[in-house]
Amino acid sequence: MLTRLPSGPYEAPAMAEPLFTPEEQKKFDAGIAEILSHYPSDRKSAGMLPALRLLQDLKGWCPPEGMRLVAKHLEVTPERVYEVASFYVMYHLKKPGKYVIDVCTNLSCALWGAEKMLAYLEDRLGLKAGEANEKYTLRETECLASCGTAPCLQVNEEHHESLTKAKLDDVLAKLA
Ligand code: FES
Repeated sequence: MLTRLPSGPYEAPAMAEPLFTPEEQKKFDAGIAEILSHYPSDRKSAGMLPALRLLQDLKGWCPPEGMRLVAKHLEVTPERVYEVASFYVMYHLKKPGKYVIDVCTNLSCALWGAEKMLAYLEDRLGLKAGEANEKYTLRETECLASCGTAPCLQVNEEHHESLTKAKLDDVLAKLA
């Protein structure tokens, strides 16, 4: 028996947005090929960290569909990729704000007033450590290897050292 389609314009189901633009896709494919060229074909998983880094450089974070792609290229399960990505704080599993501010509150920085600096930042940005909005992600972090120039923080992995309130205000003023 023939089933009639409902009358009216036919609407195709919406397609999911592709993960990459054509330009990003080219960079991803070339990057993965370059990474895998460093490892034997039966040890592709050894390229996990740079592959995740590549994904994050292209998208600003590690979206699930990107991690599935990494898994496919490295011939591992998506769960394995997630395990690795979630172990390291430098990989973002949620889309971060435009500026990721990592404040070191480890010993040397703590002795030089990091807690007060963090409280000041929380106040200025209207965020608690661990929170994010579209513009900022504010995080408390472990030693940033700048103990001799404490207190310090990173904005999108760029170091700012020997901070004072005035220097911190300068850093914030440059974040448009
Ligand atoms: S304790 Fe802050 S950089 Fe080492």
